[in-house]
Parts: sequence; structure tokens; C-alpha cells
Amino acid sequence: MKAIVFHQHGGVDQLRYEDFPDPELGPEDVLIRVGAVSLNGFDPMILNGIPGLKTPLPMIPGADFAGEIVTLGSAVDKSRWSVGQRVATVPLRPGVGMMGETLRGAAAELCAVPQSSLLPMPDAVSFVDAACLPTAYGTALRMMQTRGKVKRGEKVLILGATGGVGTCCVQLAKLAGAEVVACASSAEKAEKLKAIGADHVVNTSTQDYVKEVIRLYGKPRVWGESGGVDVIVNYTGGNTWAECFRALKRDGRLLTCGATAGYAPPTDIRYIWSFEFNIIGANGWTPQDQIELLDMVADGRIKPVLHSVRPLREFGISLQELIDRKVFGKAVLEP
Ligand SMILES: NC(=O)c1ccc[n+]([C@@H]2O[C@H](COP(=O)([O-])OP(=O)(O)OC[C@H]3O[C@@H](n4cnc5c(N)ncnc54)[C@H](OP(=O)(O)O)[C@@H]3O)[C@@H](O)[C@H]2O)c1
Repeated sequence: MKAIVFHQHGGVDQLRYEDFPDPELGPEDVLIRVGAVSLNGFDPMILNGIPGLKTPLPMIPGADFAGEIVTLGSAVDKSRWSVGQRVATVPLRPGVGMMGETLRGAAAELCAVPQSSLLPMPDAVSFVDAACLPTAYGTALRMMQTRGKVKRGEKVLILGATGGVGTCCVQLAKLAGAEVVACASSAEKAEKLKAIGADHVVNTSTQDYVKEVIRLYGKPRVWGESGGVDVIVNYTGGNTWAECFRALKRDGRLLTCGATAGYAPPTDIRYIWSFEFNIIGANGWTPQDQIELLDMVADGRIKPVLHSVRPLREFGISLQELIDRKVFGKAVLEP
């Protein structure tokens, strides 16, 4: 089969589009012809190498994919799964690993997964849309609903709202009935945030998002209910971590699932106690979350935001765009 492969860690120049042996099929496994695979914010980090995380080489990247079953292992439940069936997949195998990170990924013509990782696909959902969902949309759902409990009428500030997780957070916050202030690093991306439902947008290359929140809602007060937003979504980390404290109201919720710009930033603990902040982490998602998302896409409650759909051989071009912060939503590849 053809696959995107890296034999050593480094930059995009380490990626090869090459012939690779077809996956071996265990008795519990299903071989899938990949219909579409999407990129995530962690793909450049894995390619580069994450200290403490052992990625077996050579590695095929790509966690999130959907496709059609071509072969069933001998022990696969034939009452549930059949050749030709369209399926979505769960890339995270608790206790085993994550595809594209410690397990071979799906940026290839074929991919084998255990039957326990399969989800049936509603007819109304395309391979491209299903490939957008698992990691980014699944994590957004867990962060906004299960952990963050974002509610009608709340004011929600979303930093880095233009990526895979962020564009889903905007949609889920609007679906919950919240008022959304969404941040982008360019005017063009800010306009696109408005088009997917953000009530207010901030172009962080020219505007200060804390000042903008204070202009909209007033300055947060230690005593009293007024000022600031109820919820901040911050998976950017770095300098934004302590900076965003100044926009959060008393007893507000700060939600995080990552740290794109740095995981050990300076903080300011005074704000946490004085304003009685609730800092809430979110990690991963459940297969049930993914089923809920497939249903939400099928009935139109959410719509995956597509930046590009390219042929698989152009994986490196898409990944470079992601690194250069030129992507709005999800970048998808089709073998
Ligand atoms: N814990 C989990 O289970 C889990 C799951 C999925 C993702 N994550 C984490 O969540 C974060 C977002 O993932 P994603 O897939 O949505 O990534 P993404 O598509 O790359 O989006 C991240 C957004 O952050 C902004 N950004 C990128 N680099 C930045 C930098 N150096 N400094 C400040 N802002 C930057 C960009 O928006 P602008 O250019 O418009 O500012 C970009 O659109 C990542 O940190 C990822 O590791 C965690």
C-alpha cells in the first residue's frame, strides 16, 4: 500500500509518501480501506518527537479516519461487521495507545484496527466529516459539555478558536445557548469565526482580547457578580495562561485540554484564590461521545469545519499549513 511514513523525528521534510507493507491482520482485527484521514494539532509535535513519549519508528501518522471494511479477522463478530460496510473508528485505545502517536496511524491506503475500535456510520455522514470528529471534536465535546457544563446565557471566551478543537467549541457553545467571544490570529480567520456563529471576534494580532472582554462585559470584580466571562477555554497555554485570568469573572471556569504554546507557563496564583476560579482539565473522550457527534453531524446540529481536502500524497503541505497557523478548522487527506 501507499502510506505517509517518517523514519526519524524532525520536520515536515522527514515525511515520505512511499510503498509500505500492508497491515497484518490479527483475529480480532478489521482491515479498512481508508476513505479520509484528518490532521490534528499534535501531529507536528509527534513528528518532532515528544520527550518521554516513545513513538515506534517507522511511523505512519494520522489518528482520525473513516473508511470501508475490506477484510474481517477470523474472530470478528460477523453479525455486526461485514465487508463493504462504512465505519468510523476510535483512535484511542485505553491502556494500549493512540494511533499516530504510539500505534501506527491511518495516513495510508489501508489501516487495521481491532473490532472494539469500530463505530457504525450513519448514512448521512461522509468519510471526510467522520474523519474530522474523533480527537478534536471528541475532546471539545468532553471539555464543553461533560467537564465544562457550558450553559444557556453564559459568556464564553475561546482562545485559538480557529483550530480543530476550537471550531467545534464555538459550535457547541452556541448550541448550548451561550454567548461566544472567539479569538483568531488574523482578520481573515476572525471573519470565518463569525460565519460559524461567534457573537464577537478578536483578532489577536491587532487587538488585546482581555481589553475586548472588559469593553463588552466590564472588569471582573473580586466582590460581586459583574464583569468578565463565565468560562474561558484555553488550550493555548504559554503566556496566555496568566494573561487570560484578567478576563474571567469571580467563580468562573477555566477549561483546558492542552498547551499549544507551552505547558509550564508563569502563573499568578493570586487571581485563582481571590476570584475563586475553577480550573477544569479535560482529556480525551469516550466512544459514546463520538457516537453522539456522528448523530449531531447526521442531523445537522454541528457541521465539521473543513479547511482543505487534499490527496494523501500532499499530507506534508497540509501539515506545514497547520504549523504555519494557516488552517481554519480541519485539514483532511484522501488516499
Ligand atoms: N487532551 C486531549 O485529549 C487533547 C485532544 C485534542 C487536542 N488537544 C490539544 O488541544 C490543542 C488544540 O488542538 P487542535 O487539534 O485544535 O490544534 P490546531 O488545529 O492546530 O488549533 C490550535 C489553534 O491554536 C492557535 N495556535 C497554534 N499555534 C499557536 C501558538 N504557538 N501560540 C498560540 N496559538 C497557537 C491557532 O489559532 P490562531 O492562529 O488563529 O491563533 C490554531 O488554530 C493542542 O494543544 C492539542 O494538543 C488535547
